[in-house]
Amino acid sequence: MIRWGLGLVLAACVSGVVSAQQAADAVAPEAASETGFATLSPEISAALDAKAAGQPVVASDWMVAAAHPHAVQAGADVLRAGGTAADAMVAVQAVLGLVEPQSSGLGGGAFLVWYDAESGEITTLDGRETAPLAATPRLFQDAAGEPLKFFDAVVGGRSVGVPGTPALMQAAHDRWGTAAWSGLFEAAVGLAEDGFAVSPRLAASVARDAERLGRYPATAAYFLPGGEPLAEGDTLRNPAYAAVLRRMSDEGAEVFYGGTLAQDIVTTVRGVEDNPGVLAAVDLAIYAVKERPAVCAPFREHAVCGMGPPSSGALTVGQILGMLDAHEVGAVDDPQTWRRIGDASRLAFADRGRYMADSDFVPMPTEGLVAPAYLDERAALLAGDDALPKVTPGNPEWDHAMLWADDESLELPSTSHISIVDSYGNALSMTTTIENSFGARLMTNGFLLNNELTDFSFRSHREGVPIANRVEPGKRPRSSMSPTIVLKDGAPVLVIGSPGGSRIIGYVAQAIVAHLDWGMNAQQAVAMGHAVNRFGTYDLEEGSSVAALQPELEALGYKVSVRGLNSGLHAIAVGRDGLTGGADPRREGIALGE
Ligand code: GLY
Repeated sequence: MIRWGLGLVLAACVSGVVSAQQAADAVAPEAASETGFATLSPEISAALDAKAAGQPVVASDWMVAAAHPHAVQAGADVLRAGGTAADAMVAVQAVLGLVEPQSSGLGGGAFLVWYDAESGEITTLDGRETAPLAATPRLFQDAAGEPLKFFDAVVGGRSVGVPGTPALMQAAHDRWGTAAWSGLFEAAVGLAEDGFAVSPRLAASVARDAERLGRYPATAAYFLPGGEPLAEGDTLRNPAYAAVLRRMSDEGAEVFYGGTLAQDIVTTVRGVEDNPGVLAAVDLAIYAVKERPAVCAPFREHAVCGMGPPSSGALTVGQILGMLDAHEVGAVDDPQTWRRIGDASRLAFADRGRYMADSDFVPMPTEGLVAPAYLDERAALLAGDDALPKVTPGNPEWDHAMLWADDESLELPSTSHISIVDSYGNALSMTTTIENSFGARLMTNGFLLNNELTDFSFRSHREGVPIANRVEPGKRPRSSMSPTIVLKDGAPVLVIGSPGGSRIIGYVAQAIVAHLDWGMNAQQAVAMGHAVNRFGTYDLEEGSSVAALQPELEALGYKVSVRGLNSGLHAIAVGRDGLTGGADPRREGIALGE
């Protein structure tokens, strides 16, 4: 049986993409204690071994890929028993909130893309956190109107939006679930009560963030028991979380939005002495999951479908791929290939910064941004040989005359992604988050509260011109989360998504190109080295073959930064021969199927 730390190191080396940071995040075999795999099933061990060898997991009936073996096991058990992808998601999310609490949970938000096998339709659900009604555009500004420092805004109550994940779990189950709701929490409740082994990644994250985690008593007591950071392999129990899950399983997700639990959330947010928030009971009471029109863009006879505003994910991934669609992408080792990808990305991010926000609050040229004629116009800009000297937002077709200033918001890598295909042919792609690692660092009832409001622009105006993604009461902050389902002839061929802040967009777009253009299987596509351009430096993944392109890309005119790029892609490819799954070697997840 492979041990945790060894698995990560091997996976990274085999894929050829290990960075210094990833190596540090992983654990040397001799240092690795048994961290819980001994208690996991042989199928989990086999999935870990496949990942370590750079091999995809293959299956014929169903598959689940997510960020932690315990979560994947919970989802697999539901699918094996005949549950749908929506049922399995509830079980996976309940466990992720326990074993990967730094990334997602009941105190956060999520976007979900659903392919329905019976109708052939794509539905997208928005469970994004929402700004309190008392929030103003000055929420993240000091008395002089200047933006706060990022972590001064993040840590405490100010950044906490109304959580959407519990309501989204319920909404998905109400629509597409067939298994009994209460049974979907059993795995998480059992792990929370009996205890689970702290993973290397969780232990490293706690150690890195110990000062901030130590600021508030409930958070400190859980992550720094006795004043010391949790260590890898420690057995961690969370009876408060088990109690919340029991209430949720008995009473439904509404327990979060009224009564004592809602009051606890409000008290926690408002009670922070050094940085209180303005969340109120009414904000929770009026929270609603929103069904949004899916955004689909063309790429190589496929439709790449995902989450529209308030996420910028599907529009920006769609613009990048839509522009590349007009060109041969080229060979993976050709610098011109990366020039086309890099400049398509710069052009898309320019539009993102100008136009994209919560379209319930600001008019947006949503259709114009992925209209074929507009994509062709932008794609024509990729025809040269050198990096574009200047990139500006375009003028998509729009029935409004609006002037927006360019956005200023910082999105750092965190978050988690779940991909599931069930035995009925339904597919689910859900990216789930509490934003920064450990969110606002506030804990109540065994779960962390998000800091999602810092995804808004801290500046509300630039030289008198408003910014689309400014804070407004009741608004949802712009996201980069890109849960995606790629369709061919109306049927899914790839279910994919990733954490990673605004780099999510590049990670997902590149993995789709890798699978569809370069013929990589799901594991190869998620493991390959990253090159991401967000309208600034061209970031190349340290230690990967892509990093070797640095001198050539610099010669083309890019400013290049070679660095760790910590994606967490989970992909399921659906082919004639069945399902092929891949889990990002940079993180602890696996794919599992039968
Ligand atoms: N907080 C990550 C995102 O929504 O993009």
